[in-house]
Amino acid sequence: MKKLFFLITFICVNIHISVGQPPMGPPQANQQPDIIISISTLNTDLIYKVSGRDGRLYQAYLGSKLGNISDLKLARNAEHLAYATFGTDNLFEPAIRMTHNDGNPSLELKYVSHNIEKTDNNVTVTNILMKDPVYPVEVTLHIKSYSAEDVIEQWVEIVQKEVKPVTVYNYASSMLHFDASKYWLTQFHGDWAEEMKMQENELTSGIKILDSKLGTRAHMYQTPVFFLSLNEKSDENNGELIAGTLGWSGNFQFLFEVDEKGSLRVISGINPFASEYTIQPGKPFKTPSFIFTYSNRGKGPASRNLHHWATNYGIMDGNKPRLTLLNNWETTYFSFNEPKLVGLLDDTKKMGLDLFLLDDGWFANKYPRNNDHAGLGDWQENKDKLPDGLGYLVKEADSIGVKFGIWIEPEMVNPKSELYENHPDWILKLPNRPENYFRNQLVLDLTNPKVQDFVFNIVDGMLTKYPGIAFIKWDCNRMMTNAYSVYLKDKQSHLYIDYVNNLYSVLDRLRQKYPHLSIMLCSGGGGRVDYGALRYFTEFWASDDTDPVERVYIQWGYSYFFPSFSVCNHITSWGKQSLKFRTDVAMMGKMGYDIQVNALTEKELKFSQDAIANYKRLSDIIWHGDLYRLVSPYEENRAVLMYVNSVKNKAVLFAYTLHSRFGETFNPVRLQGLDPSKTYKIQEINVSSEGMRFGPSENGKSYSGDYLMKIGLNVGSGTALTSSVFEIAE
Ligand code: GLA
Repeated sequence: MKKLFFLITFICVNIHISVGQPPMGPPQANQQPDIIISISTLNTDLIYKVSGRDGRLYQAYLGSKLGNISDLKLARNAEHLAYATFGTDNLFEPAIRMTHNDGNPSLELKYVSHNIEKTDNNVTVTNILMKDPVYPVEVTLHIKSYSAEDVIEQWVEIVQKEVKPVTVYNYASSMLHFDASKYWLTQFHGDWAEEMKMQENELTSGIKILDSKLGTRAHMYQTPVFFLSLNEKSDENNGELIAGTLGWSGNFQFLFEVDEKGSLRVISGINPFASEYTIQPGKPFKTPSFIFTYSNRGKGPASRNLHHWATNYGIMDGNKPRLTLLNNWETTYFSFNEPKLVGLLDDTKKMGLDLFLLDDGWFANKYPRNNDHAGLGDWQENKDKLPDGLGYLVKEADSIGVKFGIWIEPEMVNPKSELYENHPDWILKLPNRPENYFRNQLVLDLTNPKVQDFVFNIVDGMLTKYPGIAFIKWDCNRMMTNAYSVYLKDKQSHLYIDYVNNLYSVLDRLRQKYPHLSIMLCSGGGGRVDYGALRYFTEFWASDDTDPVERVYIQWGYSYFFPSFSVCNHITSWGKQSLKFRTDVAMMGKMGYDIQVNALTEKELKFSQDAIANYKRLSDIIWHGDLYRLVSPYEENRAVLMYVNSVKNKAVLFAYTLHSRFGETFNPVRLQGLDPSKTYKIQEINVSSEGMRFGPSENGKSYSGDYLMKIGLNVGSGTALTSSVFEIAE
């Protein structure tokens, strides 16, 4: 801390220290001293250097915290342009490329100044201003460091003061450089119901791109997250890596380029594909944030850093409790009426859940929403299904002491709707080609302020009329195809960017009025999962696939980058596993139900009620404890993970046996994150005769933390599709 203070004072009073060799050629007699700009967290340093020789900004270091920054002068490593431009001497992928209004395609950036704003003891923002010596173009790199969480956030602002507009073709949020012998990239791709499939590959010379071009539901095929391991592959506790993610709900791009010397540059930001952007004089163009953490102890600490950051800064109300709920989607689909829903309210109460969530199908009259072909956009209660309106249900819920929530998909429209009939110009579609449907629907043109007002008013109108609504599930079920905005006229290449920024501005307006309403982010499952959206949302629907075996993998994938309280897991009838197995899998995140409660046997009902009570008792540990992934389903036929609270006196462990081979035995699992000197009692919970485990149970035994972490615990059985949950308490 003292060191950090010293360093900041050092820079603030503008005493410049000189380190290292200038990037090119010997020092000149009249050379300015180098300027060091250091961004630090508890365990990480990101150091920039303004070269006294050419006035450009270089990345001098990124890695574990240095004991002495002056040691950098000994470093032999190449120095890399911090935000490489195009058109002068950069031969590789640029972070920024633009054409000036005189047609000149070059940009050069020289350091002008920097300042440091300390928000509080934990958060510091460093702003580095650079300017082109020839054109009045300014670029500011903003770097926000979160010390305790070891997280760094980077974004960029571009301002041009030329007389006419200029066009930018590349506008990265972040450019980082690495010099390692090998680079291992872990990516997470998928599709509907197949989210977050993990793949790891070595990067070879040239360019590898992870991106999306979908516009909306932008993360359906690729979630904007990655691990980059340096030199060797990393595991949970070993290896040097960064975990990176972009806070942007639209098209993103991560570009990895290994050059002829084996250096790697990582360029992260909005996908520049088909998105050249015209910047008006004096109007800043701001990129979204690239968020990353560096770890030299593997993926476990990297995930925990991101979880802590997300809890404190990244996700709406990350420190507040979440509501357990019963959802009706998988049990009724579009077919329900008032008495049926009143029955489901009673079921919510009977189970001991907080809230009933009414899903799709409750709206539209001229074209009733009885399937996904009609009604989207007409957000009035369907008079046949809900003759007494939503108000009746809200009141009924209130009278029995449960909360009420509702599904909407306000960015979309079915061609069979009054909205489509009345406002054809509010819809993204090519004027001279056939409409192209996905789930029988089209995307509204959120670049149009009238559409922004429409979306705001739909949600605001509903919440004003029924202030008892305590929860919203906000869906977004299609990507953009054949997209054209009447509103944008000749600026069609602004569509992907303006859409997302205007979605955020609508959400900003809603959040000003409803700062703490719980809102679930959904996009046909996990088609929109990123920290740009999660500033407004309290949680997200991870996948429509609720088969618990699939879920173990999907939730495992999300757990690398997103905290458990944000990942909604529902117990459904998808999958043939026992109720216990389904329950235990859902419990490792934000648990909910989407199940026919009245079809449960008495025993199953009792099991579920007890499990919900257990969950409520333990949810603070699961939501806010430190996650340790102990056995990966990618490596064994089982998955084991645990959460430990900050004072290490309570933990919860989940173990799932997925498959089993003949004769396969599973060794005890060494726990992590406990206090070796404490003695812990092991209590098995969610015990059920259904899906019984065969094997020794640790139930009721006590062990020291030292024993549990060095020798380990028998956590499951060799029987496929069995699971166990242990409460571990000092
Ligand atoms: C999407 C969501 C589902 C459900 C349906 C309703 O597919 O992911 O959970 O809400 O829409 O149409």
